[in-house]
Amino acid sequence: MSEINRRNFITGAGALAGMSILSLSGCSKQSDTIKIGFMLPYSGTYAKLGSAIENGFRLAMGELGDSPFGKKLEFFTVDDESNPAKATDNANKIMTRDNVDVVIGTVHSGVAMGMIKVAKETGSLVIIPNAGANAATGAMCAPNVFRTSFSNWQPTHPLGKVMVEDGHKKAVFVTWKYGAGEEALSSFREGFEAAGGEVIKELFVPFPNVEFQAILTEIAALKPDAVACFFAGGGAVKFVKDYHVAGLKSSTPLYGSGFLTEGVLHAQGEAAEGIKTTLHYSDGLVNSKNQEFRMAYSNAFGEEADVYAVQGYDAGLLLRKALEATNGDLTQRSVAIAAMEGAEIDSPRGSWRMSRAHNPIQNFYTLKVEGGENKVVGTAWEGLEDPASGCSL
Ligand code: BEZ
Repeated sequence: MSEINRRNFITGAGALAGMSILSLSGCSKQSDTIKIGFMLPYSGTYAKLGSAIENGFRLAMGELGDSPFGKKLEFFTVDDESNPAKATDNANKIMTRDNVDVVIGTVHSGVAMGMIKVAKETGSLVIIPNAGANAATGAMCAPNVFRTSFSNWQPTHPLGKVMVEDGHKKAVFVTWKYGAGEEALSSFREGFEAAGGEVIKELFVPFPNVEFQAILTEIAALKPDAVACFFAGGGAVKFVKDYHVAGLKSSTPLYGSGFLTEGVLHAQGEAAEGIKTTLHYSDGLVNSKNQEFRMAYSNAFGEEADVYAVQGYDAGLLLRKALEATNGDLTQRSVAIAAMEGAEIDSPRGSWRMSRAHNPIQNFYTLKVEGGENKVVGTAWEGLEDPASGCSL
């Protein structure tokens, strides 16, 4: 069976299994099955991020063969729509109704906050494959919550230094007004000011609004040396295109955390050329793991991998550490957690290890869009560890 057909089969089997579990709610878990729940956005501006994460995760699990540790894998799916107002209900559906062994979720920081509150009550094992909410591995850290992506503090922390080195000392920061954008801004400000820069204005649009005309007019009037921003997915495509059409790019270079151009370069086209970002991954990273991963991913799914696919793949690699240590029995919770805490992951992004607070300690690269590719032009920060404020694990 091809990877894609196998995937459709598993998804179908998962949906049927979900119905039978629902009708038998209260039954204990079947020990011959590992139940995996995806709580991800499959609609809205982050839909593509959700599917790349799921693909990457399935690729990592698929490397174990059809019945890892003699068990059947069952998959359950909830579309969280990147809607924080539905996060508690959605987390309860997957953790309590579907009673999965592990949740892979989610993308949006606000949704992650709601999901973690539920996970702290249910004790469910959670691997966050994207959402950067600082508190997830900070003030709200928990033994059962791990992250394979980044904290929102990490990607923009090195960006200010890069911009000052490029000669830009007065910047405007633009973002969606929600947790991820606000935390990206605060970390950017910290790094930029430490390097001698000044944020002359903060500009916000509500999430997931993509009406940028008013702020582009304001940027033109402010005349900063450069603009830094946080946008991702569909919103990043629109912002980069609108910035280009407004004619700002030649006078006011555009920077951002790497989500600005990840997985969306093709859609942005010419408008993205020259944009510089900082991120923990690039398509072009030269290591054998990345080359093998990119080849396997495009063969399986017919599209190019991006940072979200890598984070999903690494969530699979992390879970594999727990499965190896417990011979596939995640009910051996303390053994599973110890294995994940000590994990060193041989990732397509380069190898990284888990921090005390359960967040990756990893390199950040400076990327520049050249010829339709995110090219690595330097290492912005080696082995960057989130401060994990308020975490007492
Ligand atoms: C977040 O909400 O944490 C997030 C979403 C997309 C890209 C990066 C961060």
